[in-house]
Amino acid sequence: MQTVPTDVVAAIESNGAGQKPRWSRRRLLRALGIGGATVVVAGTGALSYRVYDTAALSPGRGDAYDPWQHWRDTPGLPGAVAAAVLAASPHNTQPWAFGIRADAVDVFIDPTRGTGTVDGFRREQYIGIGCALENLVLACRARGLLPEVTLLPDGPTGPRMAEVTVRAGAPAPGPLYDAIGDRHTNRGPFKATPIAPATLAGLVDSSGISGLDVRWTVDPAPRAALSRLLIDAAKALCDDEQQSRDNFAWFRGSNDEIQRHRDGLTLGGQGFSPLVLAISKLLPASSRAQGDQFWLEQTTTVHTATAAAYGVITTRTPDDRATQLTAGRLLERIHLTATSRGIALHHMNQITERIDREAGTGRVPTFAPRFAELLPPGEHPLLTFRVGYPVREAARSPRRAAAQVTR
Ligand SMILES: Cc1cc2nc3c(=O)[nH]c(=O)nc-3n(C[C@H](O)[C@H](O)[C@H](O)COP(=O)(O)O)c2cc1C
Repeated sequence: MQTVPTDVVAAIESNGAGQKPRWSRRRLLRALGIGGATVVVAGTGALSYRVYDTAALSPGRGDAYDPWQHWRDTPGLPGAVAAAVLAASPHNTQPWAFGIRADAVDVFIDPTRGTGTVDGFRREQYIGIGCALENLVLACRARGLLPEVTLLPDGPTGPRMAEVTVRAGAPAPGPLYDAIGDRHTNRGPFKATPIAPATLAGLVDSSGISGLDVRWTVDPAPRAALSRLLIDAAKALCDDEQQSRDNFAWFRGSNDEIQRHRDGLTLGGQGFSPLVLAISKLLPASSRAQGDQFWLEQTTTVHTATAAAYGVITTRTPDDRATQLTAGRLLERIHLTATSRGIALHHMNQITERIDREAGTGRVPTFAPRFAELLPPGEHPLLTFRVGYPVREAARSPRRAAAQVTR
């Protein structure tokens, strides 16, 4: 990942509140040491290589982004799988595989596509499968294929995460299905406009879902406490060398890497304005330490500073695989509903990642008791996210094509 000096980002973004940028492009480029207004057409040397290498001039294009174009037009179960691969997944690992039969889709987990010590108990991996499952179900319905889902049909340690059998029915598209191609994780600034409690409650449709709750944090004092916890957890994760390494392993720093892997986190997904994005792509690729520093600063000055509210999905059975799959379905459903209503969502799971890391290494738990204080007794946090009205739209992230993940 590349970084832009934080003071420059802050100056341009003005924390996103719609203020005018205080920096002209020329001044900015000079400050960045790039100089001159011809930066994007520079013909020779390292800079033009970075233009090519990061696709600074054509963000979000190429084969790696093709799956966003064709999912609606593909009929039948292959089309439903094409919608499934557009779901959220931890670090964009896309830990799924699908088997298509005449009247069913089998959903498998790919255990090689994990984030190591960032997700020590592979909770997020299962949740990511649940996210894909929700898209799959919505896309089956839209295609007139009435789905019936069986979770873990081979038992908790069997190969299949889910079996989705279908029978013919009336096509039932809807706003959530329509939002599949527009749902993106938004890591940019959110507006200061609050979200009404009724609007937040309306984001959650728990039909067919049991064993999970969504707790909203809106009031200033608890919101500040959760913000503090998120910042502390981000710092602890960066200070843990193995977690930092496992985190960084999924950053794709060049267009070549993005097109080759078609997964992972990209500069384009960091929520920058187009100007900052183009300039940051021209800067040299940053080290892991710089990436960590950048994330910490963004967590402090943008993510927590502009969150209108936090949502936490909680459960009493956090270790149960079926619960984790179902939590993924609920998370994706909330994200799609938010998208359809113009509300941005940013997943922020560093606290639970630290809770699991402390548990997995036998350390004295510090984050679990602090998070527990903010939740009803007995409820364990599974997923955390912030919501708000976006300053700008989030960008697409790369995807492997449905054919690449169909057995
Ligand atoms: C279980 C899970 C955990 C995630 N945790 C984080 C997180 O802590 N921070 C973050 O910025 N994004 C997080 N994400 C978002 C993913 O990085 C994102 O879904 C992925 O990069 C694909 O991008 P998209 O959602 O824009 O399609 C998470 C997603 C899932 C499903």
